[in-house]
Amino acid sequence: MSDVANGRLLVVGAGQMGAQIAVQSAMNGVDVELVDVVPEALERGRAQIVAILDRNVEKDRSTRVDADASLARIHFSSDLAAAAPRCDWAIEAVVERLDVKKIVFAQLAELLPAHAGIATNSSHIRAESIAGDAPYSDRVLNMHFFHPLTVMDLVEIVAAPHTSSQIMDAAVAWAARIKRTSVVLNKAVDGFLVNRVLGAASREAFALLADGVASFPEIDIAVKRGLRWPLGPFALADLSGLDLLLQSRTTRFEKHGEAGDKATMDIVGPLVAAGRLGRKSGAGFYDYSVDPPAPLPLPSPGAQS
Ligand SMILES: NC(=O)c1ccc[n+]([C@@H]2O[C@H](COP(=O)([O-])OP(=O)(O)OC[C@H]3O[C@@H](n4cnc5c(N)ncnc54)[C@H](O)[C@@H]3O)[C@@H](O)[C@H]2O)c1
Repeated sequence: MSDVANGRLLVVGAGQMGAQIAVQSAMNGVDVELVDVVPEALERGRAQIVAILDRNVEKDRSTRVDADASLARIHFSSDLAAAAPRCDWAIEAVVERLDVKKIVFAQLAELLPAHAGIATNSSHIRAESIAGDAPYSDRVLNMHFFHPLTVMDLVEIVAAPHTSSQIMDAAVAWAARIKRTSVVLNKAVDGFLVNRVLGAASREAFALLADGVASFPEIDIAVKRGLRWPLGPFALADLSGLDLLLQSRTTRFEKHGEAGDKATMDIVGPLVAAGRLGRKSGAGFYDYSVDPPAPLPLPSPGAQS
């Protein structure tokens, strides 16, 4: 096992999460290889990283010298075969597709030194589904970071059935090195911890709205003030995207038949059909063309606005 304190990190996928993992690591002194197969994605990743570093300088959270040093620690590349052998740990942050992740894991197992852990940042796909019983399956695990990563100080760490204890210890040490708090789950569950708790609370909020207990702005105010959430569940749904929410709750309803998922489908379905996808489309539960965002009427006949 290499010394984590001096090890070099490989991040595969320079999208939203990969770029943030890379910059969070570089800001904490880690040399990073950031690899993406799409050259434009590497450019976008670099722009995202530069924006984060510039904002830190503007807000006096870092000096220009430190920001420049962090950027210099990140090596951008589309050549996995050249980058991987130099690294001691890998975090895969490519698109959320099992087939793509399987190919990337197999490439990493081939190219990385034998001591290197292979972590996936997937929100839903378990490392065991990607690696199966492959000979390298003692080196794979889930490390689930949160967006925006430089603000959200958490990583959920989950072993696969064959993951060695040395790799788990190294994962916790890597998380500490890049200053993210780690929580190690005893077993893998769909949605890990945070999204399980959030999903339960959100389904309950939709069920209360469907039952006419209060309007959605009132529920948002109650949850913000009563639980000290930064956003209420409906404003949060707008932030995540109502189309994605509709998709995940529909899948879950088909599997478990839960009332809160059905309530979400009944309320969010007409919004999505009307093009109200949340913040990204300018309107969802709230209208984002005004500041502060204003609650909008709900089109669904059963729902209260
Ligand atoms: N976005 C979030 O809020 C969030 C939060 C936690 C976890 N995740 C997980 O992180 C992963 C990445 O999500 P994202 O939002 O950053 O996606 P994204 O679409 O922004 O980025 C994915 C990147 O992977 C690249 N890619 C695709 N195939 C590749 C390959 N074979 N080799 C190298 N690069 C490849 C794409 O070019 C793209 O730049 C997903 O598994 C997702 O579930 C996302």
